[in-house]
Amino acid sequence: MRYYQLAYFIDLHDGYRQVFQIEHHRLLLIQEAGQRYLIEATCPHRGHPLTAADVDPEAGTVRCALHDYRFALNTGALLYATEEPCRGLRRYTIVERERDLGVIL
Ligand code: FES
Repeated sequence: MRYYQLAYFIDLHDGYRQVFQIEHHRLLLIQEAGQRYLIEATCPHRGHPLTAADVDPEAGTVRCALHDYRFALNTGALLYATEEPCRGLRRYTIVERERDLGVIL
């Protein structure tokens, strides 16, 4: 396991979304309303990119734009499905350092 730097704090802002490919992991770093989330970059339902997803920190949800599935940001649990159920959303712990943040994989 090692630390992978993803971004400097100075580059982050609300609306920030960036995909990172690290080994076999495809990660999406998001900042909305001052909250940062690191999740898998594609929807567990049918793989739609989550870069276009609606992230609602107040409701604690992320909604995939393709079929409207919703997942809990804090647990990854599937909250709402319009078709067959799917597994939960993978989330990753953000590691913050002095000037940057990243992930340990
Ligand atoms: S691919 Fe995301 S809800 Fe279907």
